[in-house]
Amino acid sequence: MALVTTKEMFNKAYAGGYAIGAFNVNNMEIVQGITEAAGELNSPIILQVSAGARKYANHTYLVKLVEAALAENNIPIALHLDHGADFDICKSCIDGGFTSVMIDGSHHSFKDNIELTRRVVEYAHSKGVVVEGELGQLAGIEDDVNVSDENASYTHPDEVEEFVDKTGVDSLAIAIGTSHGAFKFKPGQKPQLRFDILDEVSKRLPNFPIVLHGASSVSQEYVKIIQEHGGQLADAIGIPEDMLRQAARSAVCKINIDSDLRLAMTAGIRQVLFENPAAFDPREYLKVGRANVKALVAHKIKNVLGSENKA
Ligand code: G3H
Ligand code: 13P
Ligand code: ZN
Repeated sequence: MALVTTKEMFNKAYAGGYAIGAFNVNNMEIVQGITEAAGELNSPIILQVSAGARKYANHTYLVKLVEAALAENNIPIALHLDHGADFDICKSCIDGGFTSVMIDGSHHSFKDNIELTRRVVEYAHSKGVVVEGELGQLAGIEDDVNVSDENASYTHPDEVEEFVDKTGVDSLAIAIGTSHGAFKFKPGQKPQLRFDILDEVSKRLPNFPIVLHGASSVSQEYVKIIQEHGGQLADAIGIPEDMLRQAARSAVCKINIDSDLRLAMTAGIRQVLFENPAAFDPREYLKVGRANVKALVAHKIKNVLGSENKA
């Protein structure tokens, strides 16, 4: 099977009331952990690569790792650029084998966001690649963008039809109260998402796939393991899983998860090294990190995304 776009995945997910997990990949163990879980559960999956991942692992290595995962697992896999900042990085990924790109123009003016996104869509569609755009800004830290809580802004539902019409995007990321990273809410703060905005957006865009970024739940199990094995991770709080399940049943077809993978991998590595100070074979600790990633993704597919047996 070749890499696929997200087109058919999203059509089926929308109709079936579930979502596809979009997991960030940076190395072989993460690719293996995610795709082994998806393969065993017969779930479609999106593997996404940030600019930072490309800088760390190199574009070609990442593409080849994903192609290897495709050969080993009989499931639909899309390879997606996460948070493309400009036309050039999108073009480079489109030309370099990706089947989907995100152009993140959310920090530009509405007009400039439309112009930039439309340019990427024109090029991507001419090559058979699909495009995710974004309206509204999430709080948190990504590679090149650091959005403070005060500067974060919910998506305005009255802008979405014009944006989709004028750009031709295939899916739209919206801001409804999720944020990037492991510290999404302050201690004592009640996690809340603006489902009213999601409902309003989906009314205005019937049958159109919506994307949720910043959707890690920050498993307290892994936070505890990290803390008990020498790590410092106070007050890490994520999005409750029942809220993500609710989102997955609605127009949300893609749920982005990175921080949870980082925590799962780190918990495994810390545990091995803390308990075996003499260990120095990377395979010893990486295989435990990889097993944690696999268990985490299996849990998400079964209990959050609902994409088991949808391949
Ligand atoms: O949304 C951002 C993702 O978690 C990727 O993070 O840019 O540090 O690779 P990164
Ligand atoms: P988290 O930091 O919640 O995992 O979000 C990841 C993300 O949105 C990647 O684009
Ligand atoms: Zn994101």
